[in-house]
Amino acid sequence: MSHKNMKNILVTGAVGQIGSELTLALREKFGNDNVLATGRKTKPSDVLLNSGPFEFIDIANQDTIEKVVKEYDIDTIYNMAAILSAVGEKNPQLCWNVNINGLYNIFDLAIKYDMARVFVPSSIAVFGPQTPRINTPQDTILKPTTMYGVSKVAGELLGDYYFKKFDIDVRGLRYPGIISSETLPGGGTTDYAVEIFYEAIKNKRYTCFVNEKTILPMMYMPDCIKASIDIMDADITKLQHHSDFNISAMSFSVGELVKEIKKHIPEFECKYKPDFRQDIADSWPQSIDDSIARNEWNWKPRYDLTEMTKDMIEKLSKRYDEGTM
Ligand code: SER
Repeated sequence: MSHKNMKNILVTGAVGQIGSELTLALREKFGNDNVLATGRKTKPSDVLLNSGPFEFIDIANQDTIEKVVKEYDIDTIYNMAAILSAVGEKNPQLCWNVNINGLYNIFDLAIKYDMARVFVPSSIAVFGPQTPRINTPQDTILKPTTMYGVSKVAGELLGDYYFKKFDIDVRGLRYPGIISSETLPGGGTTDYAVEIFYEAIKNKRYTCFVNEKTILPMMYMPDCIKASIDIMDADITKLQHHSDFNISAMSFSVGELVKEIKKHIPEFECKYKPDFRQDIADSWPQSIDDSIARNEWNWKPRYDLTEMTKDMIEKLSKRYDEGTM
């Protein structure tokens, strides 16, 4: 496998929770004009629009991607477009179409245009009820019970397959729940860990859709962005894994999160009204062993529950006061 330079990057799902912040970080690193942001229909923010190129595409329609790949001479793709777990359970066909057919289109174009690298996000949703739930190992049972999880397992396997068979340099991370203060997540099971901050600041109360004891692995956005950039920079000769790295930062129950928020907003109150997302949460791990990522490309998170909570409340309170939340 030869190491090709990444010059012109396409980000799909650039209007989404991770894509919106990742695009700005990539523009900072590679130059504004070298990072094309794309979305399907949601209007991009002013900062995304004003800092570099933007186009609408549909990753389930290969022609729309190919057009921008040619126009912008794309050699690297961050495929951040996806249907998340909760929406995926409501509409499994859509989830398959975007997460599997869309990914297939991305790989197809990566071969056709001899691309340098492709980033494929995976998730803790690849695990299922038969997987060990505490300190889940890198290589373990992958029998998810959601369509989202099924699509992510297929994505990991496809990524490794394309690497072996077609020499495409595919890299991917199993994201835990991602907590951020800029763009809201759309339709995942871990969304409560973001919504709770918005509601704590706006209304001093929140009704959580999973119970107080629910523990899931989580990560703060700055660590997520760092991981997503570092993995693409990693020396390929050191990588034994490619599309499926476990990465971990913190794990907490909703009760523990509430306690941490109350240190800043003492009058905050949380109630619980579990819905179908409780079953999804209960099928996922509580904590993740990421020693392979630490060994193969020096992964290390910065934020724990205390630091993340402090920063989230600072950032969101500021946005609330400015009227931009
Ligand atoms: N945050 C995602 C979800 O909840 C998991 O990858 O669907």
